[in-house]
Amino acid sequence: MTDAASPIRVAIIGSGPAGFYAAGHLLAEGPQTIEVDMLERLPTPWGLVRSGVAPDHPKIKSVTRIYERTAEHDRFRFFGNIEVGVDVSRAELARHYHALVYATGSLADRPLGIPGEELPGSLPATELVAWYNAHPDHHALAPDLSCKRAIVIGNGNVALDVARMLVLPISELARTDIADHALAALEQSAIEEVLVAGRRGPAQAAFTNPELRELAEIEGVEVEVDGQELEDALAVEDPHADPTAKRNVETLREYAQATAARRRKRAAGDEGAAAPRRIVLRFLLSPLAIEGGERGVQAVTFVRNRLEADAAGRLRAVGTGQRERIEAGLVARAVGYRGSPLPDVPFDAERYVIPNERGRVIDPAGGGTRRGEYVVGWIKRGPTGVIGTNKKDAHETVSAILEDLRADRLPGPEQPSPDQALALLRARQPNLVTYAGWRAIDHHERARGAAQGRPRTKLARIEELLEVAAKAGSEEEISAALQRA
Ligand SMILES: Cc1cc2nc3c(=O)[nH]c(=O)nc-3n(C[C@H](O)[C@H](O)[C@H](O)COP(=O)(O)OP(=O)(O)OC[C@H]3O[C@@H](n4cnc5c(N)ncnc54)[C@H](O)[C@@H]3O)c2cc1C
Ligand SMILES: NC(=O)c1ccc[n+]([C@@H]2O[C@H](COP(=O)([O-])OP(=O)(O)OC[C@H]3O[C@@H](n4cnc5c(N)ncnc54)[C@H](OP(=O)(O)O)[C@@H]3O)[C@@H](O)[C@H]2O)c1
Repeated sequence: MTDAASPIRVAIIGSGPAGFYAAGHLLAEGPQTIEVDMLERLPTPWGLVRSGVAPDHPKIKSVTRIYERTAEHDRFRFFGNIEVGVDVSRAELARHYHALVYATGSLADRPLGIPGEELPGSLPATELVAWYNAHPDHHALAPDLSCKRAIVIGNGNVALDVARMLVLPISELARTDIADHALAALEQSAIEEVLVAGRRGPAQAAFTNPELRELAEIEGVEVEVDGQELEDALAVEDPHADPTAKRNVETLREYAQATAARRRKRAAGDEGAAAPRRIVLRFLLSPLAIEGGERGVQAVTFVRNRLEADAAGRLRAVGTGQRERIEAGLVARAVGYRGSPLPDVPFDAERYVIPNERGRVIDPAGGGTRRGEYVVGWIKRGPTGVIGTNKKDAHETVSAILEDLRADRLPGPEQPSPDQALALLRARQPNLVTYAGWRAIDHHERARGAAQGRPRTKLARIEELLEVAAKAGSEEEISAALQRA
């Protein structure tokens, strides 16, 4: 039973967009008695906004200003550097909170399941992205960039992010918040060509049009599309092609025309000033095997596909048997992310999500919902959707929580006091990072960045992050310092 006047304590696990939108909705739309604690395994908040969004897209990252307003709410507390399922269990949290909201995202990679995938130089985009964004789990990745050609497998926005990051001029990267270790490695990179391989056609690509158009705006980079291959891949009409697909096809046709014009000029002996780097967009190619040895990747063998409609009219890739071997020294697999289970929390091992009904976690044994357990974001619906998609998604889950609160369906925790919850978290993780700790990190990174004309210079090691967080002064001191930065 929940008493109308006593606090309703909610723990949100994960501090990405989904967790923050859920917190914001709960505090804005729920009764004044709602109190939110957010638990994050890293010392830093914002999930993929910090560790996924590409460094050359700073405007997108400014969404964190909205989350900052939530974090400064007097009924909100942030606790970083505490991993649920490792440092503290679900059952322990349930003793302190009326509701638990899982917002853990989908941070693992989806394997291709082909030979050679494990070779050095064959990397999931999940790791490469985390490396260039200074995620502490991957600061030591050190990809070998001494080859001339890299292959990116996949046709989503992550594939385009990775391709762009591998060819952007250093002068441009040096103005971003890219990890220092990645900047240094990319400065020495020998990569001249990044080939992006899609298994289906241009009208089925998952990338969005601004991201595709952006490729042609990179200084010193030619975008190459073979007109014949493009038209072959467009031969089967896609009844599901949406406006984005149509715009992408138009853009790709422009790229193909520009490629043909350059080829004609060069065939006539006019070498002109060839751009030092290129992105080659290829279609209807599925990887069959990655070749190489202990010293790394040497080539990828693809099978050429044709498109065939399935029973629902969705065009799928079917191998023709025709093979193509393309040499490369680096392979990035950008074929999607994947959720991971949390101990003692239901998990759908086929869809890699926490099973739920409009955000209420489903009990796989009984089939009903688990009282007081909810889910939001990528771990609720799978790893698709932009930052804003998580807002509506979080709203649905928060509506379910508030509905359950009104119907008195939330469990009553044994120890609902905020101090008791904090005592548990501190006992399990003495180096807990509070919001003041994060603000100290934020200030430190921004001050280091400002000295170099960059938005921030990220700290990439847990020890460094904890050391700076531990120096956090009072909230007032940090506010004043942040305003000066
Ligand atoms: C490479 C990449 C680039 C992207 N770029 C853009 C873009 O430019 N624009 C755009 O609109 N969208 C972009 N997106 C999509 C956007 O990032 C996602 O829609 C969004 O981040 C999903 O939010 P989430 O909160 O569900 O997950 P996440 O952002 O992944 O947050 C999950 C959080 O939970 C934490 N966590 C995980 N397990 C635990 C645990 N056991 N205990 C405590 N904490 C835990 C994680 O550390 C993380 O902070 C991009 C996605 C990727 C992968
Ligand atoms: N700038 C931005 O706004 C931005 C940047 C990055 C990410 N995001 C968002 O984040 C989400 C995740 O992006 P994502 O790129 O990881 O996923 P995605 O959009 O789902 O794209 C995954 C790609 O991988 C391909 N693929 C899957 N399995 C494959 C296989 N076995 N072999 C070859 N190709 C395979 C898919 O092809 P099929 O279609 O044939 O399955 C698809 O092209 C998306 O919603 C994306 O828009 C946004």
